[in-house]
Amino acid sequence: MKKLSLLLVLVILNACSTSKRPHTTPLGVIGRQAMVVSAHPLASGVGSRILKQGGNAWDAAIAVQFALAVVYPVAGNIGGGGFAVFREEDGSVGSLDFREKAPLAAHRNMYLDEQGEVLGRKSLEGHLAAGVPGSVDGMVTLYGKYGSLPWSTLLQPSIDLAANGFTLTEEGATALNRSRDLFIQVNTFDVGMVKQEPWQSGEELIQPELSKTLIRIRDQGRDGFYAGETASLIIDEMKRGQGIISFEDLQKYHSTWRDPLIGYYRGNRIVSMPPPSSGGVALLQLLGGIESYPVARYGHNQWRNMHLMTEIEKRVYADRATYLGDPDFYKVPVEMLLDTQYLKDRMSAINLRKSTPATAIKEGNVEVVESVETTHFSIVDPKGNAVAITTTLNSYFGCKVMIKGAGFLLNNEMDDFSVKSGVPNQFGLIGAKANEIAPEKRMLSSMTPTIVDDQDGLVIVVGTPGGSTIITSVFQAILNVIDHGMGMQEAVDAKRFHHQWLPDRILVEDDVLSEKVEKKLRRLGHDFESRGNIGRVDAILVLPNGHLEGGADKRGDDTAIGF
Ligand code: GLY
Repeated sequence: MKKLSLLLVLVILNACSTSKRPHTTPLGVIGRQAMVVSAHPLASGVGSRILKQGGNAWDAAIAVQFALAVVYPVAGNIGGGGFAVFREEDGSVGSLDFREKAPLAAHRNMYLDEQGEVLGRKSLEGHLAAGVPGSVDGMVTLYGKYGSLPWSTLLQPSIDLAANGFTLTEEGATALNRSRDLFIQVNTFDVGMVKQEPWQSGEELIQPELSKTLIRIRDQGRDGFYAGETASLIIDEMKRGQGIISFEDLQKYHSTWRDPLIGYYRGNRIVSMPPPSSGGVALLQLLGGIESYPVARYGHNQWRNMHLMTEIEKRVYADRATYLGDPDFYKVPVEMLLDTQYLKDRMSAINLRKSTPATAIKEGNVEVVESVETTHFSIVDPKGNAVAITTTLNSYFGCKVMIKGAGFLLNNEMDDFSVKSGVPNQFGLIGAKANEIAPEKRMLSSMTPTIVDDQDGLVIVVGTPGGSTIITSVFQAILNVIDHGMGMQEAVDAKRFHHQWLPDRILVEDDVLSEKVEKKLRRLGHDFESRGNIGRVDAILVLPNGHLEGGADKRGDDTAIGF
């Protein structure tokens, strides 16, 4: 009886301490009808203007994707790929996979020498690192089903920004300067992103060749990229740099509609990206793993939560390395991974008083973790349609190869494959057979565009860049709102941490750990590594009065514009 009443108290406490809407005064930009949040103020401005012209969330998303390719070339792209998750005003949901594919000439050992050792940085820099781009096909496909304004209206803002130039921010100038040497090293001609003196904020970046490519896409749609002049320029570039993307690769590339992954967390429906992203599966595993714990009572970034989240993350990332890959090539056991009993059994080994070493969960060798880039944007239109898109070139400016005459950069997404089983990629993630290279296969991703709703309608639109840290950043943003009662901006501002099984240490942003919490966690056996920033979450929350709160990440130039 005593046991039963204790249980009852715990259940009641837990129920009282969770809320899907914020307890606090919102700190973010408020829109009464619509909101666009992206990595760059000019791209958010483009999206917002499209909505004001009567465009829907998909129209705005397409315009933002092209605008980011101009004003945020670090990760915005037409030479990369991504994923879209969306929710229509009536609650129906969908997702589009426009992830890059391995070229037809790719093979399992293409980055290994005769001794089977990894060949330098071939999967990271230069022509061989590029997968067949998917972004333009993705936008054309989204438009074909959901677009409402003329296609040319969606392209024109980015054409103008490329042709007339735009003003570099401090962050934009620093990013260009940081990659200067690599641009020079991998390109056989003078690229417009390199100049004699370092770039300064306030300078104009004009991209005439990119504007011409965007005009071809405006006028010819898919053929403006995958055929004709742009395709010829891509193939010429491949010949110059011994790349392997062919006309046939470009012609055959098509994005794929996928059923989004659906799960539930404290009465909310979580809609996220299925494989070839690991994001949705891992996010649902993380939420499923923590749901039975009183997260709100444990306190935001307090030791119990940090320990628990870390222990769950280790197990989820170990599963990711083993089981996740392109479902068109490998039978990913999604149902098994999300099975309630499986998760219960998997998490039952968690010791609340002691860290489990990563080696006891599964073996592996992992080295350094490098910088991470990708970009995410979230949009809600006046009718309540919501679109979450995460898109990427992989590293900063992808493989750094500019297509001569076409003015855009190619991705280095091939590094997201498991180049050699057990050897980590640039994010320190290791992989197995599920993610080995094969022609036309899509490389595993961590991108996690996600939408949360409940019986009353839309609640959150969320996503972030950050390579392997994407999944845990989205996880934290959702817990911050649902369990800790934060508004969207507060949830985005909150300090983050991350564990990915291997290497066996918690990555922490500055100031996430109080002295007391650090001491306690060290006593439980955790180790730490400082990481400047983790993630750049751009998200939207529907407030109890129906208004929209934008959460734009201050870790970058990210900007929310609502009306
Ligand atoms: N390239 C980063 C990702 O797809 O997760």
